[in-house]
This record gives sequence, structure tokens and C-alpha cells, in this order.
Amino acid sequence: MLGNLARTMVKTGVVKPSSLVKPVSVTRITGRYLAHQEGLPKLPVPPLQQTCDRYLAVLDPITDPEELNHTRKLVEEFQKPGGVGERLQKGLERRAMKMENWLSDWWLQTAYLEYRMPVVIHSSPGVVLPRLEFSDRQGQMRYAAKLIAGVLDFKTMIDNETLPVEFLGGKPLCMNQYYRVLSSCRIPGTKRDTVVNYALDKKPPAHITVVHNFQFFVLDVYNSDGTPLTVDQIYIQLDKIWNSSLQANEEPIGILTSNHRNSWGKAYNNLIKDKTNEESVKAIQKSIFTVCLDAPMPHKSDEMYWTRAGFQMLHGGGSRWNSGNRWFDKTLQFIIGEDGTCGLIYEHAPAEGPPIIALLDHVVEYTKKSEMVRTPMVPLRMPQKLHFNITPEIKKDIEEAKQNLYIMVHDLDMKISVFSHFGKNFPKSQKMSPDAFIQMALQLAHYRMYKRCCPTYESASLRMFRLGRTDTIRSASIDSARFVKAMDDSTKQNTEKVALLEKAIKAHRDYTDMAIRGQAIDRHLLGLKLQATEDLPSLPEVFVDPSYAASLHYKLSTSQVPAKTNCVMCFGPVVPDGYGVCYNPKDSHINYAVSAFNSCKDTNAALMAQALEDALLDMKTLLEQTPKAKL
Ligand code: COA
Repeated sequence: MLGNLARTMVKTGVVKPSSLVKPVSVTRITGRYLAHQEGLPKLPVPPLQQTCDRYLAVLDPITDPEELNHTRKLVEEFQKPGGVGERLQKGLERRAMKMENWLSDWWLQTAYLEYRMPVVIHSSPGVVLPRLEFSDRQGQMRYAAKLIAGVLDFKTMIDNETLPVEFLGGKPLCMNQYYRVLSSCRIPGTKRDTVVNYALDKKPPAHITVVHNFQFFVLDVYNSDGTPLTVDQIYIQLDKIWNSSLQANEEPIGILTSNHRNSWGKAYNNLIKDKTNEESVKAIQKSIFTVCLDAPMPHKSDEMYWTRAGFQMLHGGGSRWNSGNRWFDKTLQFIIGEDGTCGLIYEHAPAEGPPIIALLDHVVEYTKKSEMVRTPMVPLRMPQKLHFNITPEIKKDIEEAKQNLYIMVHDLDMKISVFSHFGKNFPKSQKMSPDAFIQMALQLAHYRMYKRCCPTYESASLRMFRLGRTDTIRSASIDSARFVKAMDDSTKQNTEKVALLEKAIKAHRDYTDMAIRGQAIDRHLLGLKLQATEDLPSLPEVFVDPSYAASLHYKLSTSQVPAKTNCVMCFGPVVPDGYGVCYNPKDSHINYAVSAFNSCKDTNAALMAQALEDALLDMKTLLEQTPKAKL
């Protein structure tokens, strides 16, 4: 029943733009969407013993034997019949019965809203598109107009509930995140943040915000009859914005949003004491999305375009460059530079990468086909500049945020590579999962650099379940460790290395299947721990065990974010001495971004990117040089 319904939705899927004219831009969550959502299964709570056994297996390659023995005893104690584990498990099962999703709210709070590091670099991913073919203001404006029209076209599908339902492993996915990314914004707090979404308001927003030279403007993007502005109309409006913000001589108020969340929360309360400031901030928060018209950045070689653009997407280059052109709390900000640099940054709390990328894929296609057509001149409301009254205290907060951002900008080490030797077609030709192949190459790259395996995070989608977000695929496994140790061992035959690689890839694919079916260990352990904080006077020993903390110290934080368009997502490392790695495997090439921190002497993004390239090539050579018949 569910499958049929979902498949019908796919068929009804894409609606021609001409049939989309609709009186007002209202997102109504009704019929089809709700029926689909209600048909999705609820996230299960995995069996306790299964998680405990798998936890010990996960620790095996990343923990020394003595510590592992100690942890084994703690786990035995935790899971014994009638013990504390069972009690917590029952609590979790009761929570799962009562709630739509036992995890999603906890996850939103702990992973995002209570996380106090700046969203810049530490949480918000960027996406880089190939350089666009313009290098002047007209080109920038024309492209921005098309892009805005493309996002509005996608929004119409959301509003009309005609977005094609997505599938993973043959199962329909939760589409909720699509309703969270537009007209939404994070709001800072002094202890925890919140997220607001205006899409479902009685009078939903009909404007976007445009930033140029650190100045914010409200741009209405719907005509009075409710139809979206045409590309031509948007261009005219952008031109007006450009002409009224020729100088970057105003305080870069947006820099405030880059600060540590507690500091920003305090500064925010101070900022919005002023009525004008409060109204301006509200206009940004309520806007459907933001468009940042960036100044050109210092030119590096064409080869460095991707890396340089990655920096621009992730942090804007600091207060001297384009960071003042951002409101980092805004869920979705498209960035279009005068020099043809293009991409986006998004605030992570409401959604994962894939919905953002689906939107981007749509927009990129839209910009290719949409032409500027003269539309009859109807008077359009002048874009409204947002004003801010800067008191000495606000000025001080801006200065502090500028300095902190300066440190962060200089600390980010990143390399974005286009690996052009092969793409996902090669592992497929070897009957191997491309994702597992790339993950094993990452394990090999890391092992070659550090001579040890490390806790590795790969995001797995939980969207098969209602309101599902992510769990963790533990890419470092007993089998991956055997493979990476054997790969450069001259005493081993190639046939043995291939067999170990195949086994490691299978183990990875099995873990992936288990994770996307809600049976991975990490969110379950988190749930048990959070249940303990609610039910018990103190945490059970398994959660204060050094092995537990060490297992969460992800020196490799990785994610596959595939896209139809040739782009790459990038994000910062999650620990001071680790790497953030994101990749988009295309048929014949792989785009990947590797980040690290300059303040860590042990890491180097360019070296890791090179090690990954070498590992991919060596694994291919190994497979090609080892005739199948001999296996
Ligand atoms: N032989 C041949 N082909 C194979 C194969 C094999 N043994 N195993 C897989 N393939 C094919 C698949 O059919 C698929 O084909 P397609 O390109 O036609 O779709 C392709 O290879 C890719 O499969 P695979 O590499 O195994 O990955 P996946 O698409 O199943 O994705 C995850 C794996 C973990 C990335 C995915 O399950 C997931 O959870 N994605 C969401 C991650 C996320 O949310 N990231 C955002 C964080 S911000």
C-alpha cells in the first residue's frame, strides 16, 4: 500500500513549470505529503545485546587490547539480565511507542542546537559549483536572477506537494527535510539555540534577502497575484540593490553570526533590544532564503579554483573579504561571486546534505534552460534596505566576532580535488559498492599516513523512517584493518590482498545496510545514555569509560553526498586533530574535499588528499593485476 502510494507520487512527480502558477506561495502540508509520511515506518530501537556485541566489534580495530578487555567487562555488566542496560532499553522502547521518532528531537538538540562551537566551519557545510563563465557584474546579476527563479520553481513543487518521493535501497524516504530548508533560520541562545520555520505560517514569507557589500535587502519575489517574479524582473530588482550598495562602508553586521554560540547568543539579545535592529533581523530570519552577491576574491591558479571556492563557501574569507555578506544562521544561502565563483552554505540543524543537493541539482538545470525574456513592465516595490543601529556595545561585539573569525579562517586547511582517473563505474565493474571502495581507500590513506586505524564516521541516512536523520557507519572495522595492514605488506600475495579487500568492502556494505535500516550502534548508545540522564542519578560506567569517549573522537569524519551536477560539498573536521572528508562520486571521476586544522601539527589536508588519490589508484591496480580466475 505504502509502496504503491509512494510510487504513484513519483509518477506524478515533476510538474511542468507552466502549470505551477498558484495564487500565493503557501506551503500546505496536507493530503499527499501527510499520507506518505504516515505510511513510513517508525525508527526502531535495536536489541540491546546486538548493539553491545557490535560496539565491542567496532572498538576492536581502534582500541588497545587491555582497554578493550576492561570495556568488555563493563559491557557485560551493563547488559546482564535485570541490569541497568535493560532498564534503559525499556525506557527507550516506551519513548519510541509514544513519539513519532524517539531520536530526532534528541539528535536535533544534542548534535546541533546545544553544540556551542561556531556554525562556521564546525557545523555548516558548503557546496562548490564549477566556476561560471562570467567575470563581471552583469553576468553575476543575470546568473543570480536565474538561480533565484530556479529556487522558486523548486519551492513551487514543495508548496504543491509534487516533489518526487526519493528512494534508498528500494524503500521510500521521509520527505520532511524538504519542508524545513526554506523560510527557516537558526536563532542563537546563550545556552542553546532554536530553529524557526515560517513556511507554514498563515501568511508565509514572500521575500528573500539579498546581501551585497555587507548590506542586507528584502526582495519580494512574488507579484501581487501570487506568481513568482520572472528572471527579467528579478534582474531589474537586483540591479537596484547593486546600485544602492556600491560601497562596502557599513559595519559587517552578519559577522556576528560567525561567533561562538554563547557569545553570539549574548550579542543577539543586545542587538535586538533596538526595534529597528529587531525588525531587520526578523526580516532575514523569515526570508525564504538568502543570496550573497560576493566581491571577487584574490585570484589563484585555475587548478586551485575548487579549493579557493571551498574556503569562500565555508567562511567567506574573513571580514576583509566576504564574510560580512552572510547571515550564517540562515538555513540556505546561495553565494554568487562577481568573478564567477558559485555555490552555497547551509546551516545544518534542519537538514542533511541530500535535500540541499536535490534542490541545487534542480536549480542548476533551471539556470541552463531559463532565458531572459522581456516581461511587461509592472511596477515593482523597491527592494527594502535593512537598517541596523550600531551602538558601541554592538560595535564591540562585531570586533570580537571579526577577530575570532580571523583565527578560524587562518586555521582552516583544505584541499578540494577532482580525481579524474576513474569514478564509480570502476568499482561497479568489479562488482563492488563504490561507496565502500572509497571508504576503504580512505582507511588505507589514513593507515599509510599514521600506521594505525582511527574511529571513522560516515553518515548513513535514516530517512527510511519517519523524521529520520542519520546514524553512523563505522568504516574502521576488523576487516578494514586486516586489509590496510596487508596492502603494503610485501610478504602477502596479491590474491590474498584482493580477498581481504573484498571482505572489507562487504563488511562495509553490510554495516551500511544495517545502519540505513536503523540497526547501527551509535544513535542507540546515545539514546541509552540520554535515557540514563533522565532516569538515573549518574551515568552507567560504559558511558564514562575512556573507550567510549575515544570511539567518538572521529579523526575521520566523512560523508558521501552525491549530486547530478558536478559539484562538491565540504565541511570542517569534527575534532582538532582530525579530517573532514566529503565526496561526490560521478561515473568517471570523483570530487572530494578534505579539511583539517592548521593548528594541528599532525594533520595536512593536501597530504591526505594525495594519500587518498594514491590509495584509490593502488587499489585499482591491485584489482586489475590480479586475474579473477586465480582468486
Ligand atoms: N556491484 C555493482 N554495483 C554496485 C554494487 C556492487 N556490488 N554495490 C553498489 N552498487 C551500485 C549501486 O546500485 C548504486 O548504483 P547507481 O549509481 O546506479 O545508483 C551505486 O553503485 C552506488 O552504491 P553505493 O556506492 O553502495 O552507495 P549508496 O548509493 O548505496 O550510498 C550511502 C551509500 C551510505 C552514502 C547511503 O546509503 C546514504 O546513507 N546516504 C546518505 C548520506 C547522508 O545523509 N549524507 C549527508 C550528510 S550531511
